[in-house]
Amino acid sequence: MQCCGLLYKLTRRFYRAMPSFPSTPTTAPSNGASRDFDFVQRLMHHIEQHGTITFAEYMGWVLYQADGGYYSEARGLGPQGDFVTSSHLCADFGELLAVQFAEMWQILGCPQPFQLIEMGAGQGILAADVMRSLAQDFPDCFAALDYGIIEKSSRLKRYQNALFQTWKLPQKPRWLDWDDIPHNSVVGCFFSNELVDALPVHLVEVSDGALQEVYVQVNQDSAPGRPFVETLAAPSTPALQTYFDDLNIDLSHYPNGYRTEVNLAAKDWLQTLSQRLQRGYCLSIDYGYSADRYYLPSRTEGTLQAYYQHSHHNDPYINIGEQDLTAHVNFTALEQWGEALGLKTIDFTKQALLLMALGLGDRLTALASDATDMASIQHAIQRREVLHQLMNPIGLGGFGALVQGKGLTSDEVQQPLRGWTVPPMTM
Ligand SMILES: C[S@@+](CC[C@H](N)C(=O)[O-])C[C@H]1O[C@@H](n2cnc3c(N)ncnc32)[C@H](O)[C@@H]1O
Repeated sequence: MQCCGLLYKLTRRFYRAMPSFPSTPTTAPSNGASRDFDFVQRLMHHIEQHGTITFAEYMGWVLYQADGGYYSEARGLGPQGDFVTSSHLCADFGELLAVQFAEMWQILGCPQPFQLIEMGAGQGILAADVMRSLAQDFPDCFAALDYGIIEKSSRLKRYQNALFQTWKLPQKPRWLDWDDIPHNSVVGCFFSNELVDALPVHLVEVSDGALQEVYVQVNQDSAPGRPFVETLAAPSTPALQTYFDDLNIDLSHYPNGYRTEVNLAAKDWLQTLSQRLQRGYCLSIDYGYSADRYYLPSRTEGTLQAYYQHSHHNDPYINIGEQDLTAHVNFTALEQWGEALGLKTIDFTKQALLLMALGLGDRLTALASDATDMASIQHAIQRREVLHQLMNPIGLGGFGALVQGKGLTSDEVQQPLRGWTVPPMTM
């Protein structure tokens, strides 16, 4: 099913200049499924050893397995790759988030250090924009800043490091593993942009009113280009049924063949994070729905999508290791799990409103008054187009922005966060 909420990943009319991404040699085409024959062979061998694996394990492998997984090779991010994110479009995204982080620092009583921990930092562009903006516009906050990055892909870590060398920023982030962060230690904010949608999901299907799980096995027919096929069986874990029970979703009335995703990895991630947070916030920006919209009985094919060279489709068994796989985020689940973990929901908004409240409207207004000659008018038109992409309601602007908090005093909780207030009407 093509979902209009995914159009943002197709847009790349305007984007900022980026250093070119180092390419990775791949082996010759094998059977059309993937250029990386060895990688597919290794996955086939792995699956044959187990008979079948869950789709979640398959997705984890094709995205993150060393020497061939999509993110481990890191070929696909950015305008030259398969998709762009808000940070590829312009620096404004990071600059406006910096406004919010500086305010959080103040609400927390200007702690030293103020830890900002970005999870899933991609090419590091957002980190660079946020740090540069804090250094320029909020020097006191910057002086207290301890910026950490938690990144799964070693290759992307190297890219991030190189970016910081190239762009000569006043401070480098620290690259952290979860084990480096003591429990109950972080005072500040954990945040992510398009991380949760990249976590491996379980695929489930309703079969005669019962919950079944999708497993992947090697295709014994060895059809060209299709090394893997699916099979249905009982869920691999009772957590899948519990997930729907906790959301009060009764799948027994759903149409036969109804298929959807369950992101159990997001629960583990939230738990790990909340254990480390002593006092502060968790900000998650991503595409997704509330549970009632996510699991509409009419959404019979779920939200799983594959991205390859700026086009998308729903076949996860081609371009193996060379296409991104992603599923929408269930924000209700993040809120429910958060509450159980001591991460209280503070507020939820859409990216368009968040950025407008943080000053995007003022930037748009200034564009008109700054344009005085033909060159500046053309520049203003181009910038306006980019800023509009950030708030396009059927694209990036429709993303959710969930802020949760832990260890905050009642005074701190009551102080409104600027990004979640109604933006002033500037136009
Ligand atoms: C879709 S990209 C988003 C990149 C970046 N935030 C942006 O907006 O351009 C997902 C990123 O999350 C990283 N990632 C995925 N799972 C992760 C995990 N469990 N821990 C840390 N990083 C992870 C990927 O390697 C990649 O850098």
